Parts: sequence; C-alpha cells; structure tokens
Amino acid sequence: MARLQNKIAIVTGGARGMGAATVRLFVAEGARVVIADVLDDDGSKLAAELGDRALFMHHDVTDEASWARVIEATQSNFGAIDILVNNAGVLLFRTLAETSKSDFEKVLAVNLVGTFLGVKLVGAQMVARKRGSIVNISSVDGMKAANGLGAYCSSKWGSRGLTKVAAMEYGHQGVRVNSVHPGGVDTAMGNPYGESREQVNKRYTMVPLQRVADPIEIARTSLFLASDDSSYLCGAEIAVDGGMLTGQYYVGFPGAPA
Ligand SMILES: NC(=O)c1ccc[n+]([C@@H]2O[C@H](COP(=O)([O-])OP(=O)(O)OC[C@H]3O[C@@H](n4cnc5c(N)ncnc54)[C@H](O)[C@@H]3O)[C@@H](O)[C@H]2O)c1
Repeated sequence: MARLQNKIAIVTGGARGMGAATVRLFVAEGARVVIADVLDDDGSKLAAELGDRALFMHHDVTDEASWARVIEATQSNFGAIDILVNNAGVLLFRTLAETSKSDFEKVLAVNLVGTFLGVKLVGAQMVARKRGSIVNISSVDGMKAANGLGAYCSSKWGSRGLTKVAAMEYGHQGVRVNSVHPGGVDTAMGNPYGESREQVNKRYTMVPLQRVADPIEIARTSLFLASDDSSYLCGAEIAVDGGMLTGQYYVGFPGAPA
C-alpha cells in the first residue's frame, strides 16, 4: 500500500536536488505534488516527466503573495493540502567579517522567513482541517557550528527553533511539525563543483559512514515524517547525516578507521 495514497503535498525548492528526489518519491507513493520553485525550466521538466500527479508553480518562498498563489493553485488543481515540505534553501560561504547585512538578510529570507511563511500560511489551512504534516528541511548546521557558514547556520538553527514552536502551537490542533537535518548530500549545493561521488566521499572520511548522502536518502526521511508512519512524532529533529553529529574520528585512537 502506497504510504501517501490520495495525499496532497507542496514541496518548495522541488525543481532539483533533494526537493526533486522528494517530489519523485512522494508521487511514487501515491501523492499529488506541487513543485514550488523559482527554477522554471527544471520545475516544468520534472512536472512533465511525472504527468498529472505533479504540477509546477513558479514560487518564491520569500514572497507572501506567491504563497497565496501556490496555496490557491494546489487547492483548485488537487484539493486540500496534507503535506508541506519546506525544502527551498540557499547557501553562502563567507566569514562573518566578510558577510554584509544584505548577504545575511538574503540567506535568512529564503531559509528562515520562507519557512516561516509556509508554516504560517499553509499551516493555517491544515489547522482549519485539523490534519497535516509539515517537514522543515534544516541541516546539521542547525545543530552545530561551521566556519564560513554564519548566515546559513543562523538560518538553519532558526528553522529548527521555528519547528519546535510550530509543533507546540499546531500539535494540539492536529498538525504535526518536524525537522530534518541532513549532513552532506550530493546535490548542486553539497557538491557545487560537480565532482564524482568518490571524490566527494573523500571529504567525509572523518564521519562514521564515510560518504556523502544520495538525495533519495533524505527524501525517505521526509516521506516518513509526511506519512502516518510517524503519527506520534511532533517537534522531532531527525539527523540524516551518516553519523556526523555523533562524532568525528580521532585519527590514531582505538576504533578509528584504518
Ligand atoms: N546539499 C547538502 O549538503 C545539504 C545539507 C543539509 C541541508 N541541506 C538543505 O536541503 C535543502 C535542499 O538543498 P539541495 O541540497 O537540494 O540544494 P539545491 O540548491 O539543489 O536545491 C535548492 C532548491 O531551492 C530552490 N530555491 C532557492 N531559493 C528559492 C526561493 N526563494 N523560492 C523557492 N525556491 C527556491 C532552488 O531553486 C533549488 O531548486 C536546502 O534547504 C538546503 O539548505 C542541503
């Protein structure tokens, strides 16, 4: 039995990378999915490939009016919204000293304000029906620090905090809100120079699983949180990180890889 049979979902940033893997998996599991992204070509191509169970909408998560259009289009084409995956995100590699106020605000606008608008506006539709699941894609960088990622870490810690508040405010109204914290994932963001998987894996030798994730491995966790399989999870944070947050190896200590 498909785990999202007859469910209706919106996936932001769904045109490529982890979002596209999530869209494909949700459709395969019986959902009808709106791909909401600023990337018109990639989004339209994916929707065409998936047929009438997918619809592409140009969507900028930072824009409230754009959210209103996506919600309206989802409801009129498919019906009431059961699932929202706040996956759209941007990354900025810059030290704090070199980060301008406008750089910082741009990252926060997409990763945090965009997630807030989805939680607020789609959440209101779910609360009205007393059902729904919201999955916020944060990061391991929402649970630890990383040099050169000040704006990004701030946004992802913010997304994690927002998830907890939403879980409290919506949980008693039948809507579950949880966050996913990926480690390194082989996408345009996680592998910006398009290196081979073997090459990228070399940067993860200090992590227990010693490799980068395939986008589908994160999408499967979003599927779990979106589906009734996670019916008692609300305010949870799931690290899908190959063990990165568990610890990094001390070279030469017993138990380290050879
Ligand atoms: N790749 C990694 O290593 C990694 C690790 C942890 C967390 N994440 C998070 O996972 C999510 C997906 O990232 P990805 O790795 O697939 O990267 P990606 O760059 O391939 O995909 C991000 C998507 O977000 C879309 N997007 C950007 N700004 C937008 C906006 N204003 N409105 C709508 N869509 C917008 C992009 O067009 C793109 O399709 C992001 O939130 C990212 O921060 C990624």
